[in-house]
Amino acid sequence: MIYIANWKMYGNPRDIERLKPVIKLSAHKKFKKIKLIYCPPFTLLDQLNQKLKKTRILIGAQNCHANSDYGPFTGSVNSKMIKSVGAKYVIIGHSENRSIDNNIDINKKIKSAIKEKLNIVFCVGETMKEKKKNLTYRVLKKQIFQGLKNIKNNTNILIAYEPRWSIGTGKVPKNDDLLKTINIIKKLLILKNQSFKKSKILYGGSVNPQNVEEIVKIKDIKGLLVGGASLNPKKFIDIIKKSIN
Ligand code: PGA
Repeated sequence: MIYIANWKMYGNPRDIERLKPVIKLSAHKKFKKIKLIYCPPFTLLDQLNQKLKKTRILIGAQNCHANSDYGPFTGSVNSKMIKSVGAKYVIIGHSENRSIDNNIDINKKIKSAIKEKLNIVFCVGETMKEKKKNLTYRVLKKQIFQGLKNIKNNTNILIAYEPRWSIGTGKVPKNDDLLKTINIIKKLLILKNQSFKKSKILYGGSVNPQNVEEIVKIKDIKGLLVGGASLNPKKFIDIIKKSIN
């Protein structure tokens, strides 16, 4: 299982010191097979990298600019910069940025991250309005086909299914619904390109210690993208433990 902590626009240097129990867990032989990735805001990447250097925990950024070169883009950070501070991953297409980025922008960002050999966490998901109108298939198809245009899975692209109505709301899809959507994503990925056949699919959206056991009953869910609950090390550890037992 892969666990990604998405800190969003939270966190300051003091929070890094609170990660000791997670570091301890990651070193335990029982958890040898799990992959842990922390995605703090840009401001903490370097410091977190220093802290986690001797551990198995990796770090990633939450977004990147479409241009992988340096340039006059005030307020932006490119994949080269992300890589330079030790990050191995970058989240692209997160729902909270989809109001700014369309599928074409997202495609450019993925390409820029590939150029820098970063691993990508590509987020897809429908809104509640789209779900109610039975547009989930159509929306996911567009996100996957346009987002991955001219891309083969020659690098490590993880697909995170995050229903937009589930993020930060406490609502999670019912398991039969979730299973149906995960199967749709699997089919669409293969339809897009056979190289995505083995792509790992993660789930994200209001994952917490109470609902995680149910979610991971779906065998094709190979990891979790955890937002709010990942800010609390105790909750994050609980999620990991409950999803493994
Ligand atoms: P949440 O966020 O767990 O707070 O719903 C998930 C995400 O945005 O990746």
